[in-house]
Amino acid sequence: MLARRSFWPSFFSRIAARRQWDAKAIDLAPDARAWPGLPDARRHRLTTLLASFCVAEDAVAEQLAPFGAAAKQTSLASEESLVAWVFFLQRRDEVRHALLFDRIAAEVLELPGATPAERRAAGRVYVPPAILELFEVRLPELAAELAAGRTGLSEGVGLYHMLLEGIVFDAGQRALLDDLADGALPGVLEGVTRVALDERWHIGFGLRCLIEAQPSAAFLDDLPARAADASAAWGDVVSPATRERIARRCSRRLSAAGLIEAWAAA
Ligand SMILES: [Fe+2]
Ligand SMILES: [Fe+2]
Repeated sequence: MLARRSFWPSFFSRIAARRQWDAKAIDLAPDARAWPGLPDARRHRLTTLLASFCVAEDAVAEQLAPFGAAAKQTSLASEESLVAWVFFLQRRDEVRHALLFDRIAAEVLELPGATPAERRAAGRVYVPPAILELFEVRLPELAAELAAGRTGLSEGVGLYHMLLEGIVFDAGQRALLDDLADGALPGVLEGVTRVALDERWHIGFGLRCLIEAQPSAAFLDDLPARAADASAAWGDVVSPATRERIARRCSRRLSAAGLIEAWAAA
């Protein structure tokens, strides 16, 4: 029984408790004033990135729902109910992220719509098709399979935590942080910085789940090709250098965990 008293679910619970912040408290007024004065090309690139996060964070908040129940039905080295609790804490973060990006859509980008759903619908036209496919088709399909018990936790965290958070979000956040480093949009910069810190523990948590869920060899063999596709999803709003750096980081993460041999970056 001692081996099941793994410390890492408690470790992530403590991180989640320490990292609480309020998406409503971030001041976006200076950003709203500065936005119209930014060059067109920069506004276009930032609109693509921020509208994509608006759609994607809402999707991950919703689609994380079945993961806790799936953890309880998986044989893990750690206490399954504690792992399920950490999924609940992660979902709380994702709801906060969705709220932040909706505020940015409403107050800075001034996307039309009286509700978050209407603003997301307005923002979809700026989102690259490959991002829509991942978050509006592939992720809901996988979450439905997970909820029905037709796929396992390792498939779930493999897509959600390793590919969507570990590559797509990581690359998009890096592109935003690089673009906003000059302080042109201070509230957006503060918010994205906080989101990126949250995502760091989510990815670490997903990696621990993946290790304990014991993914199949076929699943692991497919990961490099799926990671290459995920890193290309942003198109030209994320530079090839950033995409390569993020894909290499994902490879290092999985190989350091002993799950794969390091692969060549896409
Ligand atoms: Fe998030
Ligand atoms: Fe996350």
